[in-house]
Amino acid sequence: MNVILLGPPGAGKGTQAQMIVSAYGIPQISTGDMLREAVAAGTALGQRVKAVMESGALVTDDIIIALVKERIAQPDCTGGFLFDGFPRTIPQAEALVEAGIQIDHIIEIQVPDEEIVMRLSGRRVHVDSGRIYHITFNPPAVEGKDDETGEPLIQRDDDREETVRERLRVYRDQTEPLVEFYQSLADNSPGSMQYNAISGVGDTETIQQSITSILG
Ligand code: AP5
Ligand code: MG
Repeated sequence: MNVILLGPPGAGKGTQAQMIVSAYGIPQISTGDMLREAVAAGTALGQRVKAVMESGALVTDDIIIALVKERIAQPDCTGGFLFDGFPRTIPQAEALVEAGIQIDHIIEIQVPDEEIVMRLSGRRVHVDSGRIYHITFNPPAVEGKDDETGEPLIQRDDDREETVRERLRVYRDQTEPLVEFYQSLADNSPGSMQYNAISGVGDTETIQQSITSILG
């Protein structure tokens, strides 16, 4: 089963992805996490993308498409995968079509802008595992520490309010056109691809239930 989680920054893609991974046993492919790992490791890729990510803009399509093609060729992807934060532009989506990569479900998670700014300013993450917390909505057991390892949590560099607003602008401009792209692709391939939009507002368990009722 191949799934795309589509939605603005802070919609809860990463939060819901963690649930889907454990319920369905397919790997999460978060291009954002992969890029942040490259930045943290100081690789050539990391050095190329660091400033772009900090500004809230998108990394170029050729870099992202190469990264994803390499990742889905790994053996853990043979039973399916979950894209989180990819594709994010029409050329990225077209690259999947051209490569003959079949998508079974696109789930769009809808959240209003004001809620997003509140969520991202309170987000904390455990870098190594990708575990996601929120200081109010999903706090760790001990303030500032990861529940499983006790290691410190960090705030992402791009979660400052003005960068969040830029990321939202970029989403509306470059990523939201994928809604229409995938809706019409799903309409023209009945049975093989399903497009569903759900509300991403409310408690995470209720949102999980909406997702599991779609994925079966
Ligand atoms: P990426 O890491 O993908 O960031 P994003 O899309 O902006 O999404 P986020 O990770 O910010 O949000 P999320 O939807 O995962 O929400 P989360 O679950 O954490 O990309 C970062 C950058 O990398 C991009 O800006 C770009 O530069 C580059 N990049 C990545 N992919 C690219 C691509 N394909 N092409 C080009 N460039 C690319 O939740 C957010 C917060 O809300 C958390 O604190 C969480 O605890 C809380 N929360 C979650 N659910 C709820 C709920 N129901 N109620 C209350 N709070 C909640
Ligand atoms: Mg994320």
